[in-house]
Formats: sequence, C-alpha cells, structure tokens
Amino acid sequence: MSEFEKKIAQYKEKINNSKNLRELVVINSEIFGKNGILNLEFKKLGSLPVDEKKRFAETINKIKQELSRIYKVKNNEILDKDIIEKVQKEKIDVTLPEKEFKIGKVHPVSQVIDEISCIFSEIGFSVEEGPDVENEYNNFTALNTPENHPAKDMHDTFYLDKDMKTLLRTHTSPVQVRTMLKGRPPFKIIAPGRTYRSDSDQTHTPMFHQLEGLHIDKDINMGHLKGCLNYFIKEFFEVDKIKMRFRPSHFPFTEPSAEVDIGYRIENNKIVIGEGDQWLEILGCGMVHPNVLKNCKVDPAKFQGFAFGIGIDRLAMLKYGINDLRSFFECDYRWLNHYGFDPLDVPTNYRGLSR
Ligand code: PHE
Repeated sequence: MSEFEKKIAQYKEKINNSKNLRELVVINSEIFGKNGILNLEFKKLGSLPVDEKKRFAETINKIKQELSRIYKVKNNEILDKDIIEKVQKEKIDVTLPEKEFKIGKVHPVSQVIDEISCIFSEIGFSVEEGPDVENEYNNFTALNTPENHPAKDMHDTFYLDKDMKTLLRTHTSPVQVRTMLKGRPPFKIIAPGRTYRSDSDQTHTPMFHQLEGLHIDKDINMGHLKGCLNYFIKEFFEVDKIKMRFRPSHFPFTEPSAEVDIGYRIENNKIVIGEGDQWLEILGCGMVHPNVLKNCKVDPAKFQGFAFGIGIDRLAMLKYGINDLRSFFECDYRWLNHYGFDPLDVPTNYRGLSR
C-alpha cells in the first residue's frame, strides 16, 4: 500500500469516527481543501508520463468520489442526530406546574361589561353583537335619522368612504336594527361594544363603549323601562336604594325619549352613588319609534317596546373611582395592574359582582 493509500484509509476512519460537525469541517478541508491530500496528489499529474496521466487521474477521482460519499453519509447522520437531540431537549411537559408566571389583569371596561351582562341575563336579556364598521343605513336611516338630520352632525361621524355610506358606528343602536331584521319578535337583548365619534377631551375619547338594550314585545310600556333600569342601577352599584330621574330628551329613534340621571354626593373626596342632591347623566332611552319598527319589519300595531343606550366607560369610572377617561385607553401596564381585575374572578350574581 502506498503512502497515499494509507492516508486515504486513515481519513475514511477519521470521517466515520467523527462525532460532530466541527470535527467534520476540519476533515473536509484536510481532504478536499486547496492544500488537501487530494489536491496535493493531483499536483503530481504534471510530472507523470502522458500514458500514465489518464489512469492516475481516474484513480484519484474515484477515491475522491468515494470519500465524498462517505463524508455526505456521516454529515447527514450527525445532522439527524443533532435535530433529534434538539427536539428532545426542547420538549416541554405542559403538565408540569409553572415556576414563574405573571397574571394579567382584566381591564375595568371588560369587567364592567361582564358585570352588566350578568345583571341583565338574570332578567332574561341575551347578548347580541354587531360590527364596529357599519353602513349608513343601519347607523342612521333605519333608526329614523334621515339625511340632513342634525343628529348626524351631532354624532361627529368617522366616515370610511367618500360617499359617506360606510362608517364607524357612532352608537350601539344599529345592533337594534340588525337584531330585529334577522329575527322575529319578541326581542329582549343587550349589545355591548365599541363606538366612535370624532371627539376628544377629558371626558370624551374618539373610541368609547356603549351598551344597547332593546325589549320588544306586546304591551311593553315606559313603566317596564323604568323598572328595568332601576333594577339594573341598583344591582350594578350594589346599593339598596337609588335616586333616579328621567329628563325629557330627544332621539330620532325613540318617542317619547328620556335621559336618565342618578343621584350622588361627594363624601371625603369620594363619590357616593344613590343619594345626595347632585345628578349625573348616565344613559339615554325611550320607547322605540314606530318608524324604526317598520324599517325593521316589525308591525308597530302589534309590537312595541323600549330601548336604552348606556355609556359603559362612565359607569366603570363611577364604580371604581377612576378619574380620567383617557387613562382607560393608554395601555399603561402599571395602571392596569392597579385598576384591573383578577381573571379568575368572573363576576356572578350569586357570588357578588365586584369582589
Ligand atoms: N344611541 C343613543 C346615543 O348614543 C342612546 C340611546 C339608545 C337612546 C337607545 C335611546 C335609545 O346617544
């Protein structure tokens, strides 16, 4: 066996015994590199007689192919082994208890929506939803708010197209329309959600939350509306008595219309809900206008009912002593940590809403 053949045999063994890619890369350059054994051998070609050149080159090429083959096999073997090891190392047992974790908090607005849904579900309301992006018809026209009606300007609408046909809903009232058009009376629903108006100061944000209520049946009257809202306010603020007043108002989609104020007083710099001689507006309501019922394919001669729209953010501020509406939407983790709720403490009527 020549010196060269001995070396080749050694390299074959070296390849087969290598344990990782680093070792293999070194062997690679020793064999196939510019100054590797194969190239050094090839360099001898020049000094050989012509008739031997061909045979010599063929032999080295064969050896080269053979080494390449062995090298590739080993390389793949190591790669496979590495992947298997990696997968095994990264395997996690999801049944093990967590060592270090942070509990997120539920935003006061989400908490209040849960509380309100809970309270209304007790008296037979189900929850509906509608999209934030509405059409002009559902947001205004079907709600008896025709073209050029001043209410349209009052709402400071965000339109999404030049034709003013698509918009961000300015209130949750379009969910009344959607609900009535897709079903048959009676209807008894609430619809919480985001609403939008181009307005921004300490008490207004361009996006805010409302909760719509709608109860349509035979012989529903204003007394039912009063009873329902009285029950809701008492449950929500967790008080036995509540001072409430209905002020005449105007909405195109209700007749008669009213705004509801609740009584409060300030004691030791804190707001006490339900008593006192100060008034705070919290919602708009009224008996659903016959035109709205007609637009929604409900016969006003047979069915009637009430609707209301509550500002959720304001209720949350009142109940949980939060002063600035804008802080709701700043996404400050420290704020949320302070004002937020334990995600496992889901509000229920029997356990108490806000404990
Ligand atoms: N949609 C009205 C508003 O945003 C509130 C409302 C709802 C009034 C339902 C009456 C009935 O101001």
